[in-house]
Amino acid sequence: MSVNVYKMASKGLVKKLSRKYNNKRSTIKDVARVAGVSIATVSRILNGHGGVSTQLKQKVQAAVKELDYQPNGMARALKNQESRSIGLIIPDIENPFFPALVRGVEDAAQQNGYALILCNTDGKPKVEEKYLKFLLTKQVDGILFVGNLGNDGGQFWFSGLNVPVVLLDRRIAGTPFSAVLTDNRAGAVMAVEYLIRQGRRKIVMIGGRQKSITSLERAAGFLAAMRAHDYSVSEHDIYYGDFTFEGGYRAVQALLENKTAFDAVFAANDMMAIGVMEGLSRHGLRVPDDVAVVGFDNIHMSAWYKPALTTVSQPVYQMGKIGVEILVDEIVGNGDSRQEIVLTPKLVIRRSCGGREE
Ligand code: RIB
Repeated sequence: MSVNVYKMASKGLVKKLSRKYNNKRSTIKDVARVAGVSIATVSRILNGHGGVSTQLKQKVQAAVKELDYQPNGMARALKNQESRSIGLIIPDIENPFFPALVRGVEDAAQQNGYALILCNTDGKPKVEEKYLKFLLTKQVDGILFVGNLGNDGGQFWFSGLNVPVVLLDRRIAGTPFSAVLTDNRAGAVMAVEYLIRQGRRKIVMIGGRQKSITSLERAAGFLAAMRAHDYSVSEHDIYYGDFTFEGGYRAVQALLENKTAFDAVFAANDMMAIGVMEGLSRHGLRVPDDVAVVGFDNIHMSAWYKPALTTVSQPVYQMGKIGVEILVDEIVGNGDSRQEIVLTPKLVIRRSCGGREE
């Protein structure tokens, strides 16, 4: 064995590694053979049933330890009709908004005794459908879904879903599922009204995926706030990115190349807002002196970018936590009829609009 493996051996890792190298997982049959008892006796002991002598329990436990036997969760799931696991489907694992959501989901899942299976779809409806079906084959007890299916990507396939589903972040019209969302329209109104109070006169919006429900709801808030203050505005004042840094950078470059007049940008998420600030800077424009910028999400890096980004903060951790609590209620049969929880966002003022930071 190599020196490195000897080092691992001293930590008791080689034994497990060799078994892993042998690619042979011990089975309940192996445990019964080593312990010298029947498979039924091993099963009784591992499932905590009574009526077995201490001596037999000790023999079985010694065999389990020696063989590093891992009970097959799927077998238990089939037997107990539950795997005590939930699935979470998200569209963009590289966007810091979603890991923050996963944190809330993971903490609540662990507190409720559920393991989490995380699926990233890159926002592709066909991948979303593939993962919904995959999770069913894994016998998950419930699914949390953030995606574009049913909105900007084909009909939501849910006829075959025989487990509870709770939507996070994005509602899907026409589905029977509970949902935990942010009041996107109200958040956009907060952003635009703040820019107006800062004296900005020509405000443009950079939306996310054009048919994404969260982007559409934020655009509705943008238009409503502008019109409420008698600003002339139309859909043509909304340009579309894709919720990424590059999408925001490209969108503001297009605005500048088209000689669009603007002194403020409301971006439908922070990643695009940071891309916008980078694009403005590359064109010699100062934030906030020449152009004010507001984002949406309040991801961690927004407070550290220079200038720090004013943004609409989503209660993303609570969204994940509440989503799990609703899902677990529905799994155990306590779930009420479809619930829609709409969380209130909060404006976080920082340097990118020139206002006094909170
Ligand atoms: O940043 C990603 C965006 O997509 C977030 O605003 C979230 O609401 C999701 O819709």
